Amino acid sequence: MVSMQAPLQAPDVGRETMLTDIWGTPDVLRNLLQVYMKNGSVEIPGLREKLPAGHGLAGKTPLEIMSACSQKRMPSGFMNRFSVIGSGTSWHATLLAEYLIEYMARIPVEAHYASEYRYHEPALRLGDVVIVVSMSGETVDAVESIRQITRHPEMGKSVLKVAVVNNSSSSLASECDLVINVRAGAEVGVASTKGFSATGFVFELLSLALADECDTWSADTERSSFVKRLQELPESMKEVLDREAKPLMQTSTDKPIGIGECPLWDIGCQNVLAQNFIFLGRGCNFPVALEGAMKCKELAYIHAEGYPAAEMKHGPIALIDEFMPVVVVCPRADATYEKIKSNIEEVKARNGATIAITEKYNDELEQLCEYVIALPETHEYLMPLLAMVPLQLLAYMMGILRNNTVDHPRGLVKSVSVKLEESGGY
Ligand code: F6R
Repeated sequence: MVSMQAPLQAPDVGRETMLTDIWGTPDVLRNLLQVYMKNGSVEIPGLREKLPAGHGLAGKTPLEIMSACSQKRMPSGFMNRFSVIGSGTSWHATLLAEYLIEYMARIPVEAHYASEYRYHEPALRLGDVVIVVSMSGETVDAVESIRQITRHPEMGKSVLKVAVVNNSSSSLASECDLVINVRAGAEVGVASTKGFSATGFVFELLSLALADECDTWSADTERSSFVKRLQELPESMKEVLDREAKPLMQTSTDKPIGIGECPLWDIGCQNVLAQNFIFLGRGCNFPVALEGAMKCKELAYIHAEGYPAAEMKHGPIALIDEFMPVVVVCPRADATYEKIKSNIEEVKARNGATIAITEKYNDELEQLCEYVIALPETHEYLMPLLAMVPLQLLAYMMGILRNNTVDHPRGLVKSVSVKLEESGGY
């Protein structure tokens, strides 16, 4: 554990900052529920509308085309490819989409980096699905990934192209058959926070729609417990934000944050001088471990790596000593909870400091770990979105403590666009 005292400097009081982005996440999710769910069913505009004449898949709806890729529809025969593509934080969202869609709708999904996808020649087939995720809708790798499909001599018009964007008038949106707007609103921070959460939430909704269409729920109760937790998620997030972010928003030079007032701030203070961090998670929490590590690099300028928890023993474990904080997303709701607990024990055995993110009242992790960040109960598939909030806040707080320009991290731009590529700017 490497600690420093909380500075007396007030962080960004009274102006819009990345903290206000994160603070706004529950409202974004509430709005998505209101706009995209009607009477318990997912009603994303365009999802159930037939593709027009001239398209190779004319007459079919995007929902039908996507669900035709399900294992349940094609138990042993020909199956179409379902690819999800993105860059950076949006790539982490594609990885989350892969887990969610596979778990819920039994559709095999491939996540790709846009920067790689645009340069390989995919073997496309009639009825394949390609979803490109880009908040700006202008990231050159994302836009070029779609263009290379459109340019394909035989299959250009026979693949369903979907844009998941935060800007419906973007270049990417204009080139796709279906546009799903994540409705996150503008972000103050160059590094994305509520944009990731909104995208993840849209994939929760899309997975629900696909599970309904593919009839993959094992029982009605399974669906209703997921939907109940989905609707509760904004309030659960608000509970975490009230505890962990409100003290930071209300602090001033006259009234700095006191020890014990904000658990996450204390954890930030005690670990901010670390030179490296490891983030672990399994299943659908693995993408969140990657995104937590990315935020740590971008905002705190601390080197960090994210791994699927069990991979640690295949190499990274050699790095663990008393100077290595290890953040572990380990909800009891996770099917591999016991295994993650033994990963934590391996870290402890090497004197690493563990920061566990789990549900409230987890006594055994309270005993085992240096720090526990407690979350409200939620559904296993929704935990990644809830766990993301403290990870974003921790990186933000450590950035503040290190006096970094958290809203505009060095070397980053909001969108690596066509213009920037042409100017050789990246
Ligand atoms: C990280 C971040 C970047 C973007 C990436 C893709 O915080 O913001 O990694 O996620 O440049 O941007 P979009 O989503 O606009 O394509």
